[in-house]
Amino acid sequence: MAFPQAFLDELIARSDIVDVVGSYVQLTRKGANLFGLCPFHSEKTGSFSVSPDKQIYYCFGCKKGGGVVNFIMEEENLTFPDAVRFLAKRAGMEVPEEEGDREAGRRRQRLLDLNRDAARFYYQLLQQPEGRAVQDYLDKRQIKKSTAVKFGMGASPDAWDVLLTAMTKKGYTKSELLEAGLVVQNKNGGLYDKFRNRLMLPVIDTKGDVVAFGSRVLDKSEPKYMNSSETPVYSKRRVLYGLNLAKKTKRPNIILCEGNLDIVTLHQAGFDNAVASMGTALTVEQTRLLSRFTKELVLCYDNDNAGRIATERALQILNDSEFSVKVLQLPRRLVDGEYVKQDADDFIKFQGPDAFERLLSGSENGVEFRMAQVAGKYDLANDEARVAYCEEISQLLATLPNAVEQEIYTVRAAEAARITPEAMKLEVQRAFKRRAAKERKAELRKELNPAAQAQPKERAFRYENLRSAKAEEGILRLLSMDNSLFPPEPPLKEADFSSPLLGRAYALLWQAKEEGRTVPFTILSEHLGQEEMSHVTSICQQPESLRNRQQALADYIRIVKTEADKRAGGANIDPLLAATEKYKDKKGTGGKQHG
Ligand code: CTP
Ligand code: MN
Repeated sequence: MAFPQAFLDELIARSDIVDVVGSYVQLTRKGANLFGLCPFHSEKTGSFSVSPDKQIYYCFGCKKGGGVVNFIMEEENLTFPDAVRFLAKRAGMEVPEEEGDREAGRRRQRLLDLNRDAARFYYQLLQQPEGRAVQDYLDKRQIKKSTAVKFGMGASPDAWDVLLTAMTKKGYTKSELLEAGLVVQNKNGGLYDKFRNRLMLPVIDTKGDVVAFGSRVLDKSEPKYMNSSETPVYSKRRVLYGLNLAKKTKRPNIILCEGNLDIVTLHQAGFDNAVASMGTALTVEQTRLLSRFTKELVLCYDNDNAGRIATERALQILNDSEFSVKVLQLPRRLVDGEYVKQDADDFIKFQGPDAFERLLSGSENGVEFRMAQVAGKYDLANDEARVAYCEEISQLLATLPNAVEQEIYTVRAAEAARITPEAMKLEVQRAFKRRAAKERKAELRKELNPAAQAQPKERAFRYENLRSAKAEEGILRLLSMDNSLFPPEPPLKEADFSSPLLGRAYALLWQAKEEGRTVPFTILSEHLGQEEMSHVTSICQQPESLRNRQQALADYIRIVKTEADKRAGGANIDPLLAATEKYKDKKGTGGKQHG
């Protein structure tokens, strides 16, 4: 998948990071860098920075970073070669494709074609006698023919290899069917259809491609729902069921539900703005996707414990976002003297669309939802409970970023607790001060413990030898910035680095230097994963004094060499001695030099 380096260098030169990022994020200059709201996590103050000099981006909030290609990979959800193609199109350059690349693109397209053909197959089966059982089920759930068509619903046959045979006939290979997750392999290597005797619900992305399938059994057996596994064309974190339709809604918001059939029922009842994250908690990727289509979200999760937890979690993800968020609480329903939970589908069936419309327009905002949750925990007729309520509610109120909001809800909480607004205000102020003090203390503790702070955010990259790692970081910073500082021969080997990741980055940057590449950083985007890239970017974006670079480089190299020698020495002596050395080091008495 290697593109010619001359092409990549020219492409990067023609894809200025400020222009590219600037078409997604509004950037304002602050000193040498530009800042804006991070597109990768929800925030209200900009901690996302772009350095025109280094041609990198880095977010101080979520710690994501990289070069221009990484930005496109993340933002457009593309692989490295596809991000390169994307940028080439933008820059008006022709891509010198290699056979391998064309192959990967073709394979993706084949998977999408296969999914589409499978969806057609299931759809046609639904119209035939073999689809009778599924059709009966749709009738039972009061799903109209036109709704089923709109969602591209289908029926998988009650047999082991009907899809397998049909798709093989169409020219798809066994490995393609396996890769798409449409067939499964048994212990003896034989293949059989994954989806059998189920209502098929194709998952269609916003481009209109069938990327996966959800499916439901027709009776009470388990598993109730069965979905496609993750494939090269499907990542469940990045897709919302129904968004292909909901993106065209004229309603001002998008409703988030838990279940696929809730979505179907809602659309049928005229709420064509409903989507579902299929059996998973709302992800940051999904909120980014949603932000393209709406500024207002309505959470409509089940009215049970799991639903409340899901709501709370979603509110946390959306807390600092630009979305305005509401919570639509479905009431429980009285059945045989007992209140049972109902989801959107049940509610529409029993109470009707008008009642849902009323709930929708009357839905509370996130604060009201959380306040009601707290109030629900206490018996406010009891004085002791009132005191406890005031304490907990003031903690919640103290976190509200908006002063007007805080004032309004403080008064409301005071009414609930039957105390004066002034008393409640005092309580909120105290809670605020306590929280601020706690945060200051945590900050201080961090400052007093530089070793912990110097560690990478990702556990997997933790430094074994902090002294060496800090010097290794310095070397990478200089090498990525100005590789002319370096001698013609590599001063260090990859193995001299105590951090495997930094060693690899060094080897790659060195390779770029030897190949005479003008933008050494790009080679990292090509070979490192997103997390690795973010960590290396966090190192490279730090300022390095312009003066004494040569001296700094020499110092860094010396430290890394010394530490590497110590390690090599340690490895050569007998284990007992090594253990004592380690023991001594731990006690801070230092060790003898070996090797
Ligand atoms: N789900 C899943 N796997 C399961 C159960 C559920 O992926 N074994 C997902 C499905 O996307 C489902 C959603 O979680 O739509 C909600 O599940 P649940 O509340 O159990 O189902 P309902 O949507 O209410 O399903 P139905 O009304 O068809 O019974
Ligand atoms: Mn249901």
